[in-house]
Amino acid sequence: MKLSPLVGVAALAMLYVTPTLADAPPAFSPCKACHKVEAGGKGIGPSLFGVVGRKAGTLEGFAYSENMKKADWTWDDAHLTTWLTDPKAMVAGTKMAFPGIKKPEDLAAVIAYLKTLK
Ligand code: HEC
Repeated sequence: MKLSPLVGVAALAMLYVTPTLADAPPAFSPCKACHKVEAGGKGIGPSLFGVVGRKAGTLEGFAYSENMKKADWTWDDAHLTTWLTDPKAMVAGTKMAFPGIKKPEDLAAVIAYLKTLK
């Protein structure tokens, strides 16, 4: 069977819209339901583009929970580890409905991937 040239065009278009999602590790799959990885992308959660090095709760235009707005840290390895292990233990009343990543290797892969989103 010959592949329609349209399939190739569609695949290219997808690559263009989400240039970095293709590189996401499997452990990032649940995050995709709520987070975009491109600048300005809107989802249930704030875009994760440039999140490493960003002050928590400060992406312009996103309606964070009250406690996330009061967060006084910048996202780095240590804070992301605490957050992604158990979000609601770190920020009471957070809007991020995610139980946390349990396996250390998954956590490391997700954080390494977040660092590439810039
Ligand atoms: C069910 C939807 C949902 C899922 C799944 C989810 N998140 Fe979130 N995430 C959110 C929401 C909503 C917020 C904002 C939290 C708040 O305001 O309390 C958030 C906040 C964040 C923040 C802080 C961003 C900032 O601007 O300060 C990071 C980092 C983050 N999520 C990473 C992840 C990663 C990585 C995953 C997957 C392992 C994930 N999230 C899974 C909805 C989700």
